[in-house]
Amino acid sequence: MSRKILVTSALPYANGSIHLGHLVEYIQTDIWVRYQKMAGNECWYVCADDTHGTPIMLRAEKEGITPEQLIERVHGEHARDFAGFGVGFDNYYTTHSPETRDCANDIYGKLKAAGLIEVRTIEQYYDPLKQLFLPDRFIKGECPKCHAKDQYGDNCEVCGAAYAPTDLIEPYSAVSGAKPELRNSEHYFFKLSDPRCEAFLRQYTSCGSLQNEAANKMQEWLGAPGDNKLTDWDISRDAPYFGFEIPDAPGKYFYVWLDAPIGYMGSFKNLCARNGLDFNEWFKPESTTELYHFIGKDILYFHALFWPAELAHAGYRTPTKIFAHGFLTVDGAKMSKSRGTFITAESFLNSGLNAEWLRYYFAAKLSATMEDIDLNFDDFVARVNADLVGKYVNIASRSAGFIAKRFNGQLAPADASLPAIRAIQEAAPRIAALYEAREFAKAVREIMALTDGANQYVDSVKPWELAKQEGRESELHAACSNALNLFRLLSIMLKPILPLVAGKVEKFLNIAPLAWSDTQDLLAAGHVINTYEHLMTRVDPKSIEKLIEANREFLAPAPEQSSPQRHAEHQQKEVLAAPEEAALCSIDDFMKVDLRIARIANAEHVDGADKLIRLTLDIGDGRPRQVFAGIKAAYDPATLIGRLTVMVANLAPRKMKFGLSEGMVLASSDPTSKTPGLFLLSPDAGAEPGMRVK
Ligand code: MSP
Ligand code: ZN
Repeated sequence: MSRKILVTSALPYANGSIHLGHLVEYIQTDIWVRYQKMAGNECWYVCADDTHGTPIMLRAEKEGITPEQLIERVHGEHARDFAGFGVGFDNYYTTHSPETRDCANDIYGKLKAAGLIEVRTIEQYYDPLKQLFLPDRFIKGECPKCHAKDQYGDNCEVCGAAYAPTDLIEPYSAVSGAKPELRNSEHYFFKLSDPRCEAFLRQYTSCGSLQNEAANKMQEWLGAPGDNKLTDWDISRDAPYFGFEIPDAPGKYFYVWLDAPIGYMGSFKNLCARNGLDFNEWFKPESTTELYHFIGKDILYFHALFWPAELAHAGYRTPTKIFAHGFLTVDGAKMSKSRGTFITAESFLNSGLNAEWLRYYFAAKLSATMEDIDLNFDDFVARVNADLVGKYVNIASRSAGFIAKRFNGQLAPADASLPAIRAIQEAAPRIAALYEAREFAKAVREIMALTDGANQYVDSVKPWELAKQEGRESELHAACSNALNLFRLLSIMLKPILPLVAGKVEKFLNIAPLAWSDTQDLLAAGHVINTYEHLMTRVDPKSIEKLIEANREFLAPAPEQSSPQRHAEHQQKEVLAAPEEAALCSIDDFMKVDLRIARIANAEHVDGADKLIRLTLDIGDGRPRQVFAGIKAAYDPATLIGRLTVMVANLAPRKMKFGLSEGMVLASSDPTSKTPGLFLLSPDAGAEPGMRVK
């Protein structure tokens, strides 16, 4: 009997672009969903933009538009990016919807009736200038432990200490720079510490809904039995806030993380209305349908504790399983804007790279664990070219032409006892189980071993030689027909990963959309195929270089595209599962950077560049360096000539649109300020060009 399955991916924030890290999740989920659909299950995949919260409100204000306008624009961008990567949501909605509001009010009302909502007065930092209560991440100051300046209100990026914002020395608002005041305010709490929640969560987190690593983490968060470590959860925020006002509490809004998971329900409810599905059948406590949430490990707390506890005590079913994945690193390091590895989905597609290359590469790396996965570009190029083009596509391209030219496109009967064919048919249930278990890397490995088998068959019968010999027509016909049958079987197995290629294959082979059960059939004798068109090209390593260049941000990034965005994302998480632990730099690392005093020998505008100034820097070695610096907004070139500054002298030269850039000058700015400014560094009097700075 077919299963009924509802699947979600986490809802991306509506104030940032989709990047390759996000795509790990959406591609992983999409592959799983496509497999379920191919297996004949009723499977729905919903998602939405996560639209509420202070960062989104402030971002809209900065852009001079309303939050509604911002989230509408971003919704369009996100939907476009996901479509570009073949992520096939059945509904891509928004949390700023009537359905989500209704569900949020309903859940809140039921929790309240159950005695699980409590109002408490708390003391919180308030920005008197902006007239706004400040989330922890919007307060900065000196670390109480190591005294590093400009640290966030929740933890120090220098020494790693965690603390409350009130512990900061000389705190200031990251929004306005004002000194924040402590003010009292009533907040609404979900009583997670209530014995009912504790009992429920102890059971829920140990009954197989979570991966082992996640279940262990939960035991830490829950504390040993008899030692309840759960604390109540603050679910309200004061106006001004972009979100849903709490029904019986004017001026109080649901905290974004309260309505975000409810957005899964909202999106599904919207889908139900359009597709005649019965929402209640899927969300009632005794539902026999299955519910799965794919998430990153950083948001486990919200999905494994708050969310099931809310659902259970509001009279709804709880998630069947929560599938957490690890984080994406690029070439072994955290994605970085300065290295050009913080790659947006849009730039990937605009660079002419094929989305299915990435889908394949991620699949080849994904497992059911929470381990991080690394995108190594050399490996990416090698794998895609070897596996997809060299092995898989090659089977079809080597046989299709003969069938078209010599046999009018008609196939001979396939040899059902051919070992390569039998091997694939026998492996099908095993590979199905690997898809089901989210062991995509293992599935890919098996499929590629079968592809090797198929190629060995083609190599052994050598159609290209048969074609040259007279009287071997029927052997040629059989060989190419077998090869195309092998190709069809492999295409079924790769279809969850490569839906676009699979669509082209269906067209080329002139067949109905492939389902998993088709692995047990072969193409009938006499079946007529269409002309073969190229299915996939090789990756050109140069396109990768271009992609990285396109994503590299230079010295003194324009304030609007720098960090507040990223900080905002963190601030919203409020739980430090530490995907971005502060990276410490050893003295050896630091000494690798060759900083020198430089004299600006010349400075001039660059035709066609709105941010850059071309500098000629003298570091006393008689070899002037050309550097393009993004400081045009703050400096008139004429005033720069002759002055001293600091440059990175051993930065790998980089070819830019305007010429070679052979280093970098150091400057500072305050991206959080309305007038961020840009301040070039200068040495004290007496420094000479070429002196080392350390
Ligand atoms: N809005 C919240 C989720 C609410 S769900 C009810 C959020 N948004 S997010 O845009 O920051 O992230 C969306 C998903 O992408 C999360 O599951 C997150 O873990 C995942 N990823 C974001 N960056 C990632 C990587 N670098 N690598 C892998 N996954 C990443 O969190
Ligand atoms: Zn510190």
